[in-house]
Amino acid sequence: MKNFISADQLSKEEIFNVLQRAEYYRLKNYKIKDQVFVANLFFEPSTRTKMSFTVAQKKLGLEVLDFHSESSSVLKGESLYDTVKTFEAIGANMLVIRHESDKWFKDLENKLSIPIINAGAGKAEHPTQCMLDLLTIYQEYASFKDLKVAIVGDIKHSRVAKSNMQALQKLGAEVYLCAAPGFEDDDLPGTYISMDEAVEICDVMMLLRIQHERHVHKTETSNYLDLYGLTRLRERKMKKHAIIMHPAPINRGVEIDSDLVECSKSRIFKQMANGVYIRMAIMMYLLEEWGIIREKNLEEYK
Ligand code: CP
Repeated sequence: MKNFISADQLSKEEIFNVLQRAEYYRLKNYKIKDQVFVANLFFEPSTRTKMSFTVAQKKLGLEVLDFHSESSSVLKGESLYDTVKTFEAIGANMLVIRHESDKWFKDLENKLSIPIINAGAGKAEHPTQCMLDLLTIYQEYASFKDLKVAIVGDIKHSRVAKSNMQALQKLGAEVYLCAAPGFEDDDLPGTYISMDEAVEICDVMMLLRIQHERHVHKTETSNYLDLYGLTRLRERKMKKHAIIMHPAPINRGVEIDSDLVECSKSRIFKQMANGVYIRMAIMMYLLEEWGIIREKNLEEYK
């Protein structure tokens, strides 16, 4: 793995390698000794992903280059390609990129001498969110095999749904989809079930945000919670051990009853905490892979 672009590119071994490293960073302090520069290039809004990358970088002792697209030469018309080549030229050793295009990385792959990490690509992929979701599920169940996972909500506009579906199926989970009419995705083949069925059979209820900013027409949500969301009544029908996940930000009272966001079944804030360790693991994996820092034996991560 030279770049971290898609959940689909990861083998099972690579997924478990990253999970094992993340658990190591969660439990132990680790700082690199070399000077390594990293830039976070976010062309779409972000709170969790950008800030957890920043915390992960500071924990590892990386030098974080500050970049704000709204005050950069992007405003003068500079392309993503030229922006990225500029960071490479001035000495950045790794780039983290979020962009509205589903395929922003296509123009960059094989044209750079430094690794790139996909921090969100349009409606298509969010592989670091996927990895932190996998870590959260693994901490709960220690396996993915035959686990029943429902991905619920605005599937059509969700990059998280696509990345998680690919990875969970590869790991042997049974993945179900639940969506309101119009939120299904024809490009994502899967078994659609109702929300009422999902809460009764699933071990993981993975809720998704309604992505209003990607809708052509305004979506009416006044009765969405009762019809398609996780209400308190539905939560009471979940299996005793089942967990609730959501990548956030959350439309409280729409996808999920606001009182359930911090209920005992919710792992939503744990997901965010895991985001720091998983991003430390992904960055270290790539820095070692490229020889930017010394490669550690995987045994050292135990
Ligand atoms: N989950 C997620 O990607 O959140 P942000 O958009 O705040 O980064």
